[in-house]
Amino acid sequence: MAKKTSKSKTLPIYILNGPNLNLLGHREPEVYGYTTLAEIEKMCAAQAAGHGLSIIFHQSNHEGEIVDQLQEARTSGSAVIINPAGYGHTSIAILDTIQALKIPVIEVHLSNLHKRESYRHLSYVSKGATGIIMGLGAQGYLRAVDAVAQILKVSK
Ligand code: DQA
Repeated sequence: MAKKTSKSKTLPIYILNGPNLNLLGHREPEVYGYTTLAEIEKMCAAQAAGHGLSIIFHQSNHEGEIVDQLQEARTSGSAVIINPAGYGHTSIAILDTIQALKIPVIEVHLSNLHKRESYRHLSYVSKGATGIIMGLGAQGYLRAVDAVAQILKVSK
């Protein structure tokens, strides 16, 4: 009888980015930093690989597309890291989808929302998130990858 040698591979971490994050590095760099989204993707892939994990990285300016990506993560991902950008402050649809997930969700913001305008102090996404990282710039994404790796290790 053939011996089963295949190791069960952890599903990828979905790293989702909302509107205007495609402009990172150019958009208000004094607030969001000089690191581009392409650089953040590379850094996250390397960080995840260090934990033996892989990523799927998306950016969209469209709310429904982010809902679709979250629904895909529901069946094809091990965890979600999401910077919902402006939609965090407005989108109950994105919160609803997150609440339908049974995998860890880490919310990331480059800036510290609580140091900013009062309309940024509320994030609907936070209500559905496992944890939140904000104010650490691009490094926040890497800390989120570390957090996911730790959560997945503990829950194995
Ligand atoms: C952001 C903060 C949001 O308020 C803003 O709309 C963004 C970026 C951040 O990463 O700091 O687009 O999510």
